[in-house]
Amino acid sequence: MWKVQLFELNFDERERQAVTAVLESGWITMGERIQEFEQRFGDSLGHGAKAIAVANGTAALHMAVLALGIGPGDEVIVPALTFIADLNVVRLTGATPVLADCTSLTDWNMDPEDARRRITDRTKAIMIVHYAGYSCNMDAFTELCRDRSLFLIEDAAHAVGASYRGQPCGTFGDVGCFSFFTNKNLSVGEGGMYVSRSEDLEQKGRYLRSHGMTTLTLDRHEGRAITYDVVQSGLNYRMDEMRAALGIVQLEKLAESNDKRRQLTQMYIELLSGIKGLTLPFLNHPNSIPSYHILPILLDADVDRISVINRLKEAGIQSSIHYPAFQDFTAFRLSSLSATPISNEISKRELTLPLFPTMGFEKVRYVCNCLKDILNKL
Ligand SMILES: Cc1ncc(COP(=O)(O)O)c(C=O)c1O
Repeated sequence: MWKVQLFELNFDERERQAVTAVLESGWITMGERIQEFEQRFGDSLGHGAKAIAVANGTAALHMAVLALGIGPGDEVIVPALTFIADLNVVRLTGATPVLADCTSLTDWNMDPEDARRRITDRTKAIMIVHYAGYSCNMDAFTELCRDRSLFLIEDAAHAVGASYRGQPCGTFGDVGCFSFFTNKNLSVGEGGMYVSRSEDLEQKGRYLRSHGMTTLTLDRHEGRAITYDVVQSGLNYRMDEMRAALGIVQLEKLAESNDKRRQLTQMYIELLSGIKGLTLPFLNHPNSIPSYHILPILLDADVDRISVINRLKEAGIQSSIHYPAFQDFTAFRLSSLSATPISNEISKRELTLPLFPTMGFEKVRYVCNCLKDILNKL
């Protein structure tokens, strides 16, 4: 249907062989490959990161708020421009999400100063997202959280392989949460990682992931345990061996595929600069190495976004929106979410163009030419 999809997997024979090996091993639930994936992912982050593989990124975020003891009566400052999971997990604990706005129309990450203004004596944590894989201002957020004794949760769903001043995103906060959903930089279908640097939060994460149980099915299968105790309430947020096997291969490809994204993004920037009707965010983003997760653009205020999306579709180009404003969702329309004018403006005008490591430069050129043509004729 599409000449240029929004995203395509970069799977090959290595992923096929890795999954086949699991199927042939006779053990498909949490086992040795999970341990290996966790070890390798944690090692790739360094900074004492301990990684716990989970069912998806939302599970990691849910475990983070639960592990930090967030609940009724608490407030958590969350980004106004992010995926709905960030708000949902906070709301589901009984705590109140408080939106903080983006920094500007060129830096879409949470503004540390706006976050500071939203702190009350009920605030327990700040949750940030490294939008599109461009790191937040981690100097400001770590200092703010330290000064005000707040927990810091990093939604690093977009930021696999990204860093700030040489330190990987996901290792600054009390908990870092990664997503390995299909379209992510490291893709296993459904999967995620809960990352912490303290033994306490690691242990809490392990209990939350698996019913608060003290031993795993694998421990009993291999004779290391006969039974188990349950020491706290928990969930089943486990990842399986097939996904861990995919994750190990994808992690090996990560540096190269992120570099491919960088080159493609660079070409987008060159071809789109100067085109009338749009601007690009994050052009000047100091101190960080992005993961180039998506390619967001900001259409001018007088451009009809729906027409652009439809004309791109006629040209066989898939596009998307990251993200609609929370205030427009039925579930949140009646809730008293704080006003966030910058993110609302971005939500109205943002358009995401195709970007994936195997895309090829000729497709970038095609998308840019079509977009230029469409904007010229509108
Ligand atoms: C910013 C952000 N946060 C959280 C999530 C949730 O991750 P998952 O889909 O793996 O549950 C996503 C993924 O779509 C995301 O993009």
